[in-house]
Amino acid sequence: MLGLPGCFMSNGETGGGGVILGTASEAVLTVMVAARERFLHDASGDTEGEEREKERLKGKIVVLGSSATHSSTKKAAKILGMRFEAIPVNREDGYALTGGKLKACLVRLRERGLEPFFLTATMGTTDTCAVDDFGGISEVLKVYAQDTGRDIWVHVDAAHAGAALICPEVRDKIRVSVFEDFHSFDMNMNKWMLVNLDASCLFIRDRNWLIRAFSVNQAVYDNHHSEGGLVTDYREWQIPLSRRFRALKIWFVMRTYGVEGIREYIRKTMGLAERFEKLLKTKQHLFEILAGPSFALLVFRVVSPVGHKESPENKLRRQNKLTRLLCEKANSSGKVWVTSTVLEERYAIRFMTAVSTTEERHIDMAFALFVELAEEVQSAEILDEEYS
Ligand SMILES: Cc1ncc(COP(=O)(O)O)c(C=O)c1O
Repeated sequence: MLGLPGCFMSNGETGGGGVILGTASEAVLTVMVAARERFLHDASGDTEGEEREKERLKGKIVVLGSSATHSSTKKAAKILGMRFEAIPVNREDGYALTGGKLKACLVRLRERGLEPFFLTATMGTTDTCAVDDFGGISEVLKVYAQDTGRDIWVHVDAAHAGAALICPEVRDKIRVSVFEDFHSFDMNMNKWMLVNLDASCLFIRDRNWLIRAFSVNQAVYDNHHSEGGLVTDYREWQIPLSRRFRALKIWFVMRTYGVEGIREYIRKTMGLAERFEKLLKTKQHLFEILAGPSFALLVFRVVSPVGHKESPENKLRRQNKLTRLLCEKANSSGKVWVTSTVLEERYAIRFMTAVSTTEERHIDMAFALFVELAEEVQSAEILDEEYS
């Protein structure tokens, strides 16, 4: 349905497979444990001093992400007591992690004697729905593996945007075959695929990585089916022992909409963000688009009133203040609900259209509201000192 490479399927050659977990945060924590076990095993070798070497390496391992990576990766590293390093992203790169930035970070870490072992690469970052440069990342990590003998685990976090892979045109654009070079992939059906919370679909290239990390035997679990390899013991693919029957609600959604129906929904919601973009572009004296539309998200801010002479620092403060005001006014109107973010010190509004009940008339209404409020905040008499 998502067109993921065969290595993530249970009938593929690498022994991959998928498991439905609760959330993307749970998924990244789960694979991070598997990645750590795999790394420590491979890096410490089959030697007498293996345990000692593992202990030494534990103090050196590093989890990587970008400054736009969702906080769940940092949180997972925190839970596991490991270092987290965020590689800064910027507007010039579309807020995406590039191969070049990753390479520079790896060099710096090796110089400090550290061992990066895990990277979260994102398809659809939370702030702007940016897509990391998967091709560049893969190339850099292949060279790194040749030079150091270390295979860094790449987890693709597609919590929100992964749903769009149901559309073949999105798969082509992302060049989804590159995921073959990575180790795990996760998307939430409960974000943008009409399933209610919780339903996070985690795929892994080799199920044994999870099983080795999570297999804990206790007499009470003994049964013929598990021992004979007849069943998949999902207790070894996740943190809890017990599981909810999430597949049932997913089945209902799929039977209700069908793959075509879900595709239509995804395309419709992306189209709504494009409609909003076109409208915003008709008022360039009021709005500036910072990112998108990408996967039904558009990020924008208010432009400083024309003719205002001020330093770049003051201009930035003014725009931030005006945009924050606009965001507050829009939300307190009760007609729309938007969230905000800060991109390299720029305060911005996130306008998301991935909502099943949103229609074109709502977009037009929201635009009219934003125009009215932006004119209001731009013309408000706000003293310069209030911007600081
Ligand atoms: C890109 C991304 N990853 C992970 C998450 C965390 O999702 P969850 O609430 O399922 O843990 C989010 C949440 O918004 C997200 O946008």
